[in-house]
Amino acid sequence: MTTSEHPSIRDMAQAVISAIGREGDNLEPLRSGLLEAVKPFIARPDLFSLGVKRPGNHIDNSKYVYYDGELSITIDQLPQGLVVPPHDHGVWEALCLLKGRLRHVVYDRLDDGSVDGHAELKTIEDKIYTPGEMAMVMPPAEIHSFEALEPETFICTIVGGNYKPTRHYYNADKNTYVVAQAGKQPKAA
Ligand SMILES: [Fe+2]
Repeated sequence: MTTSEHPSIRDMAQAVISAIGREGDNLEPLRSGLLEAVKPFIARPDLFSLGVKRPGNHIDNSKYVYYDGELSITIDQLPQGLVVPPHDHGVWEALCLLKGRLRHVVYDRLDDGSVDGHAELKTIEDKIYTPGEMAMVMPPAEIHSFEALEPETFICTIVGGNYKPTRHYYNADKNTYVVAQAGKQPKAA
């Protein structure tokens, strides 16, 4: 149901699901399709009152707007200065800027993964995103890090499936990584 000129959560989720069905795993068309799907929704004046609280992986203020067992759509506040270190998740993740500014870095992994604890990362994107833009990662190039550059930085995060149970947190300067359970960011990373 659409209420007046603003789409409902279900309208938005259906538009997101259609974009996924249409564009599959093609990064740029999917990014454009997801942006189109969420744009009218994120213009809702009551946007920040929607959703239910969830335990974030790296942050305190995170709310589920939609979850169906695979697709999840959340609204997240990223504290200024918090650097989420390079990590992977096994699924694509799209971060749509709602407020503030976000530095988002995407990495390629150059080594073959044969040495435990060792990883060589190469930066393939380092960009500052502003409201209305969408940062996105997709396997195999799905390692990213990010940092809020303003105190009021909010994103709408769309995740295309369930996170793998463990994730790698990388130290790009030291060429190392540690393994952590999804939901528990290691202090050492
Ligand atoms: Fe991530």
